[in-house]
Amino acid sequence: MQYSKSVSCFRSSAIRDLMSLANRPDIISFAGGMPGNELFPVDDVKYIINHLTPQQWVDAMQYGQTAGYQPLINAITEWLKDKGFPVNNNKVIITTGSLQALNIVGKIFIDPDDTVLTENPSFIGAISAFRSYQAKIDGIKMNADGIIIDELKEKLQTTSPKFLYITPNFHNPAGLTYSAERRQELLEIMKDTNIPIIEDDAYGELLFDTEYKQTIQPLKCNIAHEQQIIYCGSFSKIFGPGLRLGYMLMPNEIFRKAEICKQSMDACTPCISQVLAHQFMTSGKMQKYIEWIRPIYQQRRDDMLAAMKQYFPQEATYVRPHGGFYIWVKMPNGVDETELLKRVIDAGAVFVTGGTFDPEERSNGYMRISYCNTPTDQIDIGIKIIGDTMKQMMK
Ligand SMILES: Cc1ncc(COP(=O)(O)O)c(C=O)c1O
Repeated sequence: MQYSKSVSCFRSSAIRDLMSLANRPDIISFAGGMPGNELFPVDDVKYIINHLTPQQWVDAMQYGQTAGYQPLINAITEWLKDKGFPVNNNKVIITTGSLQALNIVGKIFIDPDDTVLTENPSFIGAISAFRSYQAKIDGIKMNADGIIIDELKEKLQTTSPKFLYITPNFHNPAGLTYSAERRQELLEIMKDTNIPIIEDDAYGELLFDTEYKQTIQPLKCNIAHEQQIIYCGSFSKIFGPGLRLGYMLMPNEIFRKAEICKQSMDACTPCISQVLAHQFMTSGKMQKYIEWIRPIYQQRRDDMLAAMKQYFPQEATYVRPHGGFYIWVKMPNGVDETELLKRVIDAGAVFVTGGTFDPEERSNGYMRISYCNTPTDQIDIGIKIIGDTMKQMMK
């Protein structure tokens, strides 16, 4: 059969095959990036469903506008306005998960063989989405403050990228948050280019360390630079990924292109999800829910850091995340990530190898461990398995 070039851009990897072994029910998983199974606001959703008006039921079951259910667009716009976003000369489009937002961005900007800049490591969903439009993905390394500016400058000189994709808050997988200085430097460098910045803030509501409240302000709120920025948000971590709901805030001109692209993808985002999200937001339930889950995830982060301190060899290093779901660990020199994963799975736990998040899928000596979907008692047991296995491999 003659498959398209874009589908041949998808690669299967040995790691993915290995991960399929990790579905044993007894395994402690630090691999997923999903909210805790027991944390969903199920009672709120039941209450909302039981109180929908006949008109809301029609809106929920019928086709909707491509750009989104207007009451939800209005609610998101108000919410963003309160947070300082420039909503007056931008428009909100609702997307089927923020992953669709990244696909729309890909479809708008990428022709085959175009270069796009991402961080290295980067969110695997974004890498796959951009690759499906046959982009060449050029990853820029990061340090604890964010993307490395000298590398960014060099790439801007040597390639003609269509856009720069970044996740400044609670990075997936790197766990880090860009410093205020790095954000400023990045905007300064980008301002003389005509290159859009795609700012992914999927975890933006999950700040634990409140002293970073100012630091995490999205780049899109920076009035001097905002027209260059497409901001992507998601309901997945603050409501439920099963609803498949995300959104973008973008300049009017780009919005028109996004709407046309989305039309051919799914005509509209499931209206039932949009009606539920609208009620969840405007009833005040969403804010309460966010305030309830934040300390739970924070506790899991603290438990994981405490267990790592106790069981990991000192040579394993990491940056403490200020929010979000992930810790990114540099393994001791000489510990092979794939071999470690194999042995850890045999012993009853699982993580994701760092190379999975490299645009070129190169091994990098890191692992991503997530604390989001693992209750506290399991965290201690699973981290001990990883720590003990690393120590054995260092002997
Ligand atoms: C950085 C980042 N962006 C976007 C997404 C996609 O989220 P959604 O469920 O809204 O498609 C994820 C999901 O894990 C993510 O980690």
